[in-house]
Amino acid sequence: MNTTPEASYDAIAEWYDNFVRTEPLLYEVVIPETLRLVEETGSLADADICDLACGQGVIARALALRGARVTGVDISEKLLSLARSRPVTATHAITWRYDDAQVGRTLATAAFDGVVCNMALMDIPDLNATLRTVARVLRPDGWFVVSINHPCVHMPYSTWMQRLDGTTIRGSGDYFAEGYWKPLDAPGVRGRVGTHHRTLSTYLNALCDAGLVVRRTVEPLASEFLLERMPGYRSLPPALLMRCEKTGEG
Ligand SMILES: C[S@@+](CC[C@H](N)C(=O)[O-])C[C@H]1O[C@@H](n2cnc3c(N)ncnc32)[C@H](O)[C@@H]1O
Repeated sequence: MNTTPEASYDAIAEWYDNFVRTEPLLYEVVIPETLRLVEETGSLADADICDLACGQGVIARALALRGARVTGVDISEKLLSLARSRPVTATHAITWRYDDAQVGRTLATAAFDGVVCNMALMDIPDLNATLRTVARVLRPDGWFVVSINHPCVHMPYSTWMQRLDGTTIRGSGDYFAEGYWKPLDAPGVRGRVGTHHRTLSTYLNALCDAGLVVRRTVEPLASEFLLERMPGYRSLPPALLMRCEKTGEG
């Protein structure tokens, strides 16, 4: 891919920075679960980890505080500059790089013990190219931890609906309509920048094709605070998380 991808988060960088810190879906559910999956891989002290599509670096900083040598990569200059403005006191300083995850031009082959990609694959048009980057930059037996909006819950035209008894349910949409869409009724990230929808099998097959084998899957429960704001998550998983391992295949 030779074209420069659109850095849509530049337009909402300050808003997104605040959202990461105040949205319970992220700070109470997805971020802790992502870090837990990373911690399952073993000691992070001195591990080389890439936070791919790092945004303003919430995951990168958490990993650096656990002793890892972290490289954060993103295409939003504004989010990268917010990341750079918040150094952490840790064993290793974080390296921040402007780069397209679909290419990884600045990332050396077999440079990392692990790659994390938190809630960002939906922002990147070419899933296969991105997973090829992940596999290429991982060392043999390296791990990949990824979180996404659950594709069986969030899909084109799906929307929250009230039943007559007042309970909230998710009206299903067009699950098979893969591609970019922008929900009109969502005040959060997706209502602002849109999302690339793929079916669950597209995600799983793309991971297999890249030589990334799924070892653990998590469909987290919503926190109480998230349920107060989004009661429909009482019966649905807000996200899908996977820990994968690089194999020789793919
Ligand atoms: C929902 S944000 C997630 C950011 C961060 N991982 C977090 O947990 O807060 C999606 C991120 O993907 C980045 N992004 C989108 N397309 C990208 C690409 N092609 N290469 C690298 N980063 C990209 C955006 O700039 C944005 O920072």
